[in-house]
This record gives sequence, structure tokens and C-alpha cells, in this order.
Amino acid sequence: MLVQPANHAMVSSLSRFLLIFMLLFTHNIHACIQTQRISLLSIAFTLSSPSLNWTSSSCCYWEGITCNRDGWVTHLQLPSKGLKLKGGIFPSLSLANLTHLTHLNLSHNSLSGSLDQTEFFLSLNYLEILDLSYNLLFGVLPSSLPSSHIRMVDFSSNRLHGAIPSSFFQQAWNLTSFNVSNNTFSGPIPSSICHPSSSSLRHLDFSFNNFNGSISSGLGKCSELQVFRAGYNYLSGSLPEDIFNSTTLEEISLPLNSLYGAVSDRISNLTNLTTLDLSYNQLSGVIPLHLGKLSKLKHIILDFNYLEGSFPLSLMNCTNLVELRMGANNLGGDISMLNFSKFSQLRKLDLRKNNFFGILPRSLYSCKFLKAIRVNYNNLEVQIQSDVVSLKSLSFLSLGGNKRLTNVKEALKILMGCKFLVVLSLASSFVGEELPADLGTVDFDGFQNLRLLDLSSCNLTGQIPLWISKLKMLEILDLNQNRITGSIPSWMGNLPRLYTLSMESNLLSGQLPKQFCRLPMLVSEQAAAQLHRTDIELPIYIPSVHAKPLQYNYLFYAPSIYLRDNCLSGNIPIEIGQLQLLQLLDLSANNFSGNIPDQISNLKHMERLDLSMNHLSGKIPASFTGLNFLSSFNVSYNNLGGPIPSSTQLQSFNASAFEGNQLCGAPLRNKCQTTEGADAPDMSTQDADTKEHQIPWFYVSVALGFITGFWGVCGPLVLMTKWRYAYYHFLDNVQDRFHVMIAKRMASMKRRFV
Ligand SMILES: *[C@@H]1O[C@H](CO)[C@@H](O)[C@H](O)[C@H]1NC(C)=O
Ligand SMILES: *[C@@H]1O[C@H](CO)[C@@H](O)[C@H](O)[C@H]1NC(C)=O
Ligand SMILES: *[C@@H]1O[C@H](CO)[C@@H](O)[C@H](O)[C@H]1NC(C)=O
Ligand SMILES: *[C@@H]1O[C@H](CO)[C@@H](O)[C@H](O)[C@H]1NC(C)=O
Ligand SMILES: *[C@@H]1O[C@H](CO)[C@@H](O)[C@H](O)[C@H]1NC(C)=O
Ligand SMILES: *[C@@H]1O[C@H](CO)[C@@H](O)[C@H](O)[C@H]1NC(C)=O
Ligand SMILES: *[C@@H]1O[C@H](CO)[C@@H](O)[C@H](O)[C@H]1NC(C)=O
Ligand SMILES: *[C@@H]1O[C@H](CO)[C@@H](O)[C@H](O)[C@H]1NC(C)=O
Ligand SMILES: *[C@@H]1O[C@H](CO)[C@@H](O)[C@H](O)[C@H]1NC(C)=O
Ligand SMILES: *[C@@H]1O[C@H](CO)[C@@H](O)[C@H](O)[C@H]1NC(C)=O
Ligand SMILES: *[C@@H]1O[C@H](CO)[C@@H](O)[C@H](O)[C@H]1NC(C)=O
Ligand SMILES: *[C@@H]1O[C@H](CO)[C@@H](O)[C@H](O)[C@H]1NC(C)=O
Repeated sequence: MLVQPANHAMVSSLSRFLLIFMLLFTHNIHACIQTQRISLLSIAFTLSSPSLNWTSSSCCYWEGITCNRDGWVTHLQLPSKGLKLKGGIFPSLSLANLTHLTHLNLSHNSLSGSLDQTEFFLSLNYLEILDLSYNLLFGVLPSSLPSSHIRMVDFSSNRLHGAIPSSFFQQAWNLTSFNVSNNTFSGPIPSSICHPSSSSLRHLDFSFNNFNGSISSGLGKCSELQVFRAGYNYLSGSLPEDIFNSTTLEEISLPLNSLYGAVSDRISNLTNLTTLDLSYNQLSGVIPLHLGKLSKLKHIILDFNYLEGSFPLSLMNCTNLVELRMGANNLGGDISMLNFSKFSQLRKLDLRKNNFFGILPRSLYSCKFLKAIRVNYNNLEVQIQSDVVSLKSLSFLSLGGNKRLTNVKEALKILMGCKFLVVLSLASSFVGEELPADLGTVDFDGFQNLRLLDLSSCNLTGQIPLWISKLKMLEILDLNQNRITGSIPSWMGNLPRLYTLSMESNLLSGQLPKQFCRLPMLVSEQAAAQLHRTDIELPIYIPSVHAKPLQYNYLFYAPSIYLRDNCLSGNIPIEIGQLQLLQLLDLSANNFSGNIPDQISNLKHMERLDLSMNHLSGKIPASFTGLNFLSSFNVSYNNLGGPIPSSTQLQSFNASAFEGNQLCGAPLRNKCQTTEGADAPDMSTQDADTKEHQIPWFYVSVALGFITGFWGVCGPLVLMTKWRYAYYHFLDNVQDRFHVMIAKRMASMKRRFV
């Protein structure tokens, strides 16, 4: 029964074939050869829907197919067609018969399978373009490329692994572009890729893999090389000298590796270079003196290395600079030597955490396109002058931790004029001044795009000013480490976008108003879902609970409230239970009294809850056993009594989380008297220790970028006792020591980078 229609189809396709055959001779049109048609149909057969409309008589006119004059299929181009394999195996056998194929483009589909199928690979002897990017291919690469005509190979964004065989490029004399980024390849970067005889190679992309070892010399033989990317790998050693022989280079991007040594001054031979990204390595020495000879340079990205010395003066000749990023190095020198008016194209300046001194030159304000300035934690003399308003595109400004930044009122009044400001950090400045209650305007309309405001570590006095209630876009507010008095205004609960509020270590008093507990972004999932992710101009680094810091190019939705170390009193309002999206609540070291509201257990996303060092009484609500995400918990030093509710969750915390109360039961040693006690068996202390050493979430401070996510690694080692009080400075110091380790962690997290 099944055979019958098949025969039928064969007969009809045979007759069609004959018809086409005749047409071919009479009209000289491109009609496909029957074997090609059969191969194509068998390819189509292995693919699941959406099915291809490959029905018309001549397969040469099918979608994605091109034939040559003789009816051989030369092009098979079906990118982004939602192709999936029915059987899950790459149709290599059928492809193998398309022996005249020159262009194969199946990118952006869901094809799985291994390429290590010699039938397919070896028979495509005319292949010039091979694009299989963005599929689900796995396995290792075959021993060599199929064709000596091959010009372009793109395997990027698959799941291929293993080393690239040194024989792979044996006959690929005409290769111009090779892209294997975003796979899990390992082993060395294959230097055999540069053929000594003919070296047409222009684009090389090895980034986002696990390549390791040093970059051996050999790339210098690629005399036409323009783009060399191998960032986000585990490469070590120094930059190979012969790379500086490739004078055609336009881009060198090797961020997030472990390269060390100095950058040779021979780099100034690469006069066509526009992008130099060596960030997150261990490079040392000075910035090449003659870097400025590279007048085409647009992007200099050298953050997170050990570079020292000062700016080479020659840099002033890089008049095409768009991005100058040298943060977190040991650079120094007088910044006022720089005449920024030469950099008329500059969009991003990042010099944070270095030792630059001198007056931040006014000429900076002549860079009309400037979008981001981050120079915090230097020894600069910074004053906010009214010409900053001439920077019409300014959206990211971070100036704190420098010298002499004073007059907070004047500074804010001026900055209000920067209409597109999204991130404003002036931490560790204005010491001891008063937070201005008004900014001198009747109808306050400043900062209407501001999403992050950081005035932490300033010892500011005064109260929380009303103008903050007008910041309709504000998502993150950091007023940590000030001397702010008064109560928390109930209007704070109306800030439509706020999700991270940090006001630790202030002198706030009074009750926590119940109106505060209606922050829309913490109450309603629908509202939170509407937060659109807007990119910010410079990356920020955020630790995750799992100890792997992540680099973000946008503000991170981190629903959290830090009110530790204030003088808040009264009951914790039961309305706190409305903030159901909250992940972190720190009310410790205040004067809260009364019972712990049962409603806290509504906060199902809670990961860290700290109510320690208050005067809370009564029992720990039994419903707390339902807080399943809790990874850090502390109610120590209150007046709590009774048994600790039994749950694997609560018992897994260290006893210190409960001490200083009249509590009983595990994990405390004292057993409960009555039968209602929770006599759970002793948990292993090891387990409890790991919990206790969970990484604190410093979203806010972190978001500013001057504290990077280094405690992700060092946290468990050193941070535990100190972080609560002095994490700013502490982390700043830790960062350099540990950043190598972190770089490796980040590399392993690269797939989650944005
Ligand atoms: C399939 O292709 C034929 C001819 O190429 C065309 O007439 C027909 O409308 C197409 N069908 C669909 C569903 O696109
Ligand atoms: C490929 O061609 C060979 C011989 O030309 C033939 O035997 C085989 O069936 C073909 N395979 C496919 C999948 O078309
Ligand atoms: C493959 O097709 C996609 C989508 O049209 C295109 O962007 C890409 O450049 C093609 N690949 C090659 C190597 O031409
Ligand atoms: C390599 O490219 C050159 C120039 O385009 C061409 O003449 C030559 O035939 C190509 N070689 C191969 C093996 O395709
Ligand atoms: C390599 O492919 C990735 C996409 O997977 C793309 O982003 C990148 O620009 C490509 N590299 C080069 C040098 O073209
Ligand atoms: C890397 O590949 C994955 C799929 O394997 C894809 O989802 C992701 O977008 C790719 N990343 C980049 C930077 O291209
Ligand atoms: C590279 O990684 C592989 C597998 O992890 C390891 O066996 C090899 O020793 C590494 N090579 C170098 C030079 O580090
Ligand atoms: C680089 O080029 C110089 C000549 O400019 C040559 O002497 C040297 O051997 C080359 N280096 C390498 C590693 O190829
Ligand atoms: C630099 O680029 C220009 C313009 O693209 C080109 O003409 C010149 O040959 C390049 N120089 C080198 C050394 O490749
Ligand atoms: C490269 O730079 C070195 C020293 O800076 C110089 O001696 C050499 O001539 C330069 N080579 C080229 C090709 O410019
Ligand atoms: C900048 O370039 C000019 C012209 O090439 C040169 O005379 C001058 O010395 C260079 N300046 C620096 C600081 O290198
Ligand atoms: C802020 O005040 C505290 C306590 O008075 C003091 O220890 C600290 O040094 C001050 N901070 C700054 C940045 O001056």
C-alpha cells in the first residue's frame, strides 16, 4: 500500500524530468539534474516543518537553490528558515551528492548533529562559502576543510568542541574569513591558519571559546589580516611579537584572557588599527609611547590590567577616538595635560580607579558627542561646571571618590540641565554637606531620565528631599553611608520604577510607613515586566549569588531594600507582605519592635532576609518554612523566643543566625522543652558554613561600577565580617588582587554576558 504512491511519484517525477530534459535542449534554461533533485528532496525529507515549498518541476527554481548552466546545484542558501532535523542527524549524506556546491548557507536554523562526517565534508570540493552559524552543531571538526576554493567559514554560535586540527587549513589557500566564535573549542589558536604561500586571510574570530595556551607566532604570516578576535578565552602568555608585522590589522580584540607582559611599542606599526581591546588581562608596563601614531584608532579599551605610567602624549594625535577606556589600572599622571578638544568624536571616557591627578580639564566639555564619563576613584580635582550642560548626549556620569567635589546643591542644580542623564554617581564626595531640600525650582522637572542616583558615602546631613519623589524613572537609589535624619517619607512608596533602595548607615528614625510597602516594581509582576531594558553606556559588574560576577550593559533588576544601621522603630508593618517580588530585605541594626509579621512569608522570592539586632519579640512565624529561596537569613540579637520552626531551609543556617534570643531547637544547641520543639537532627556544620558565607548582594554600589564584582571569588575568603561596615573601600582594595581570578570566572560565564 505504501509502495504504490511512491512508485507513482517516481514515475511522475521521471516524466517531469524528461520534460525538463527536453526543455533544456530546446530552450537552454537551467534545469536541475535528477540526482541533484533527489538529493535535495532527501534533504527536505529529513527536515521538519515549516516545510519547504519545493514542488515546482525544476529544482533550480526552488527557494534557496541556484544551479549552474549544467544543472548542478551550486548554491544552497536557507538561512533563518526555522529548519530542524526530523531524525536529529545532519543531512550529510544527501549533501554529499551536491558535489558542485559553492555556497552553503544554513545559518540561523536549528540544525543539530556532528560535522565529523567525512562523506559530507570531503565531497564538497568546490565549496567557497560555508555558513553554518547559529545552529546546534556539536562534536569535533573534521580533519580538514573540503575544498581548496574555500573563502569563508562561519561555524560561530554552535556547540562544537575539541581542538581545531592543525591540518584543517591544509589546502585553504584562499580563506579570507574564519569565524568559530561562541563555541567550546579548546587547545591552541591554530597558527597554521596563515598560509605562507598565499595569505588572503582577513577576518579571524576565535572569541567566546575555551582556547588556551599562548598565542604562538605565525599570525604575522597573514599579511592581509584585518580583524583578529580571540577574547573570552583562556589564552595566556604575551602578545606574539609577529602580530605587529601584520600592518593591515584594523582590530585586535583579546579581552578576558590571561595575557601578560607589556604591549610592545611595535604596535605603532599597525597604522590602520581602529580597535584595540585588551581589557581584563594581566598586561603590565606602560602604554606604548607611540600609540598616538595610530591616528585611526577609535576604540582603546584597556581596563582591568596592571598598566602603569601616564598617558603617552602622542595620544593627542588620536583625533578619531570614540572610546577611551583605561579603568582599573595603575595609571597616573596629570590629567590636565590632556587637551580633549582634540577628541571631537569622543563618546566614552572611562578612567576609573587609577591614580590620575590634576584638574579635570574643561576641554572635556567640548567633546560634543560625549555620552559617558567615568573617572571616579582617582585623585582628580573635580568641579561640576555649568558647561557640562553643553554635553547634550551625556547619559552616564560618575565622578565620586576624587578630591574637592563640593557644593552638592550647586552640582545637582547644574546637572539637572543634563536632560538625558541616566546614571549619576557622585559617591564619596561633598563630605558632611546637607542634602538640599530643594533645587531652587518651583516646578521641578530635572533628572527626568535618571534611572540610577548614587550619593552614597558622602556623610550628607538633612532629610530625604521631596524632589526625589519627582524622579519618575528612578530605578536604583543609593544613599548609603550618610547622616540623613528624619523619617522615611510615605511618598517613597509611589516611586513608579524604584526597585532597589539602599539607605544603610544613616540616622533615619520613626516607623517604616505602611505606604512605603506599595512600590509598584516590587508589588506587581505586570508592572515589573514592563520595565524595558535600556542599555547603559559603560558596563557594570554585578555578582550573582552563585559567586560568578556578571558584566551587564544595562541596569540589573534587583528588587532589594537595605535599611540596615538606622534608628527605625515601631512594628515592621504587616504591609511588607505586599512587596512580593522583593529578593533582599535588610532591616538589621534598627530599633524595630513587636512581632515579626507573618506576612513576610508572602515574599516568596526572598533570598536574603536580615532582621538581626532589633527588639523583635514573639516567635519566628511558622510560615517562614515556606521561604524556599532563602539563602541567607539572620534574626540574631532580638528578643525572640520559642522553637525555631522546622524546615530544611531554616535549619540549614548557622546557629549564629539565631543567637542572642531565647530561641530553641536546631540549629541551636539547646533543645526545646516542650514537644512542639523542633528537635531536628544536627545539620552538618560544613553545610551551615557555606550558607553563612553566601555572597552579599550589593546591587547598588556594584551598579556604579567602581566596586566590581570581585567578592564573588574573594568573598568566602575574607569578606565575611567586614563587608557590612566598610565594603566600599575594602572592595576597592580587594579588586586588583583578585581580578585575575575573576577574569577566569567571567570567562566561564561568558555565555551570560550581555
Ligand atoms: C509554492 O510554489 C509554487 C510555485 O513556485 C506557487 O505557485 C505556490 O503558491 C507556492 N505555495 C506556497 C504555499 O507558497
Ligand atoms: C548519492 O549518489 C550516489 C551515486 O551517485 C547514490 O548511490 C546515492 O543514493 C545518492 N545519495 C543520495 C542521498 O542522494
Ligand atoms: C548567510 O545568510 C545570512 C542571512 O541572509 C547572511 O546574513 C549571511 O551573510 C550569509 N552568510 C554568508 C557567508 O554570506
Ligand atoms: C584563489 O583566488 C584566486 C584569486 O581570486 C583565484 O585566481 C584562484 O583560482 C583561487 N584558488 C582556488 C584554489 O580557488
Ligand atoms: C563572528 O560571528 C559572530 C556571530 O556569531 C559575529 O558577532 C562576529 O561579528 C563575527 N566575527 C567577525 C570577525 O565577523
Ligand atoms: C552564542 O550562542 C548561543 C546559542 O548557542 C546564542 O543563543 C547566543 O546568542 C550566542 N551569543 C552571541 C554573543 O552571539
Ligand atoms: C589546555 O586545556 C587542556 C584541557 O583543559 C589541557 O589539557 C591543556 O594542558 C591546556 N593547555 C595549556 C597550554 O594550558
Ligand atoms: C617581522 O618583520 C620584520 C621586518 O619588518 C622581520 O625582520 C621579522 O622577522 C618579522 N617577525 C616575524 C616574527 O615574522
Ligand atoms: C590601510 O587602509 C587603507 C585604506 O583602507 C589601505 O589603502 C592601506 O593599504 C592600508 N594599509 C595597510 C598597511 O594595510
Ligand atoms: C616597525 O617598528 C619597528 C620599531 O618600532 C621599526 O624598526 C620597523 O621598521 C617598523 N616596521 C614597519 C614595517 O613599519
Ligand atoms: C602628532 O603628529 C604630528 C604630525 O604627525 C607630529 O608632528 C607630532 O609630533 C605628533 N605629536 C605627538 C605628541 O606625538
Ligand atoms: C563620615 O563620618 C564617619 C563618622 O563620623 C567618619 O568615620 C567617616 O570618616 C566620614 N566619612 C568621610 C568620607 O569623611
